[in-house]
Amino acid sequence: GKSDSGDKKETLVMATNAEFPPYEFYEGDKVVGIDADIAAAVAEEMGMELKIEDMAFDSIIAAVTSGKADIGAAGMTVTEDRLENVDFTDTYAKATQVIIVKNDSAIAGPDDLTGKKIGVQLGTTGDIYADDIEDAEVERYNKGFEAVQALQQGKIDAVVIDGEPAKEFVKEAEDLKILDEAFTEEEYAIAVKKGNDELKDKINEALASLKDSGKLDEIVAKYISA
Ligand code: ARG
Repeated sequence: GKSDSGDKKETLVMATNAEFPPYEFYEGDKVVGIDADIAAAVAEEMGMELKIEDMAFDSIIAAVTSGKADIGAAGMTVTEDRLENVDFTDTYAKATQVIIVKNDSAIAGPDDLTGKKIGVQLGTTGDIYADDIEDAEVERYNKGFEAVQALQQGKIDAVVIDGEPAKEFVKEAEDLKILDEAFTEEEYAIAVKKGNDELKDKINEALASLKDSGKLDEIVAKYISA
């Protein structure tokens, strides 16, 4: 808020990639979504003010390690590799990687992706899984939605992406479907600088209180209809 009393609140800088509805996306010129609301609520619990920095997804970890941002909140999956560079708070959401194909596609599940052209968002877990598929050709896009557009244009055979954004992207695309068979289960958490236990503990406390009070569920329900 405005510092009319002079005692300005400390800022909590959140790095994100606002190409990922319902977790972070633009509404006008404002970044909104589940992560934005959770981070704002966490900041409030900590008596701080949230500032959001939008950047490429694969720049977020570097922003946190360099101190350019205090936290990374971007529907970011906890992975062993990332844990080498950052620490993660407690998880606040479960997620899956799903496969999007055209309605008339012969691809019916992960096993059918062998040798196919697969679109992903650069640097995401979808990118990592797709890369592991035998003989697959992985096309990397800066934005998940660009992969979906390439699929519609017939440039690729499938998109591997997180389940909730997939629903958002396919909602508008009558020629596309999400396969029932999910690829993996994942957990989202907030990234903090390695060794910054003070911040991590404070965020975990705030997250726990948001879970207890029902505020976290409220935020999720605002963006995801059951
Ligand atoms: N959950 C995936 C990952 O951690 C994708 C996250 C993409 N998030 C974003 N804001 N674009 O790699």
